[in-house]
Amino acid sequence: MRTIEKRIIVYEYSTIWDLPAVEQKLILAAREAALNSYAPYSKFNVGAAVLLDNNEIITGNNQENAAFSISLCAERVALFYANSYYKDVPVRAMAVSASNGHGITHEPVKPCGVCRQALMEAEIRYGQPVRVILDGRNKIQVFYGVENLLPFAFKLD
Ligand code: THU
Repeated sequence: MRTIEKRIIVYEYSTIWDLPAVEQKLILAAREAALNSYAPYSKFNVGAAVLLDNNEIITGNNQENAAFSISLCAERVALFYANSYYKDVPVRAMAVSASNGHGITHEPVKPCGVCRQALMEAEIRYGQPVRVILDGRNKIQVFYGVENLLPFAFKLD
């Protein structure tokens, strides 16, 4: 038996103004995308903004359905749109923001496990780490690479 320790690193900032301008812009794009989400069932509005290597920003938001299980998270809506429109352009970063009816969530919103796996695929596909920026009123969290959000991710061997 042996023990493996995986270290994850999270950078925390008090406000978006402590971040570089490009990350501020990405968070603001995610906040705006959240305003246009379709979430009549959960009333939890999520927005995601993807920054590509060509400096384009692609946004998406959660899309719910009366048949709950077919709903889609904001992260995958944005990521898959970016990947389908710019298939050869690497993904550099994603910002995620959510609002729950009382404004932006206090804590940084966390991508679900399925979306973490989808983000991992983008890293593998383009061979570079994806920076994930999670918005919250109390703090902003930045993860340099999806490995920090999803250690021991599924990968084809
Ligand atoms: N949701 C997202 O869009 N992203 C996440 O990372 C977690 C959850 C959506 C799914 C559903 O529409 C609503 O938030 C409540 O779960």
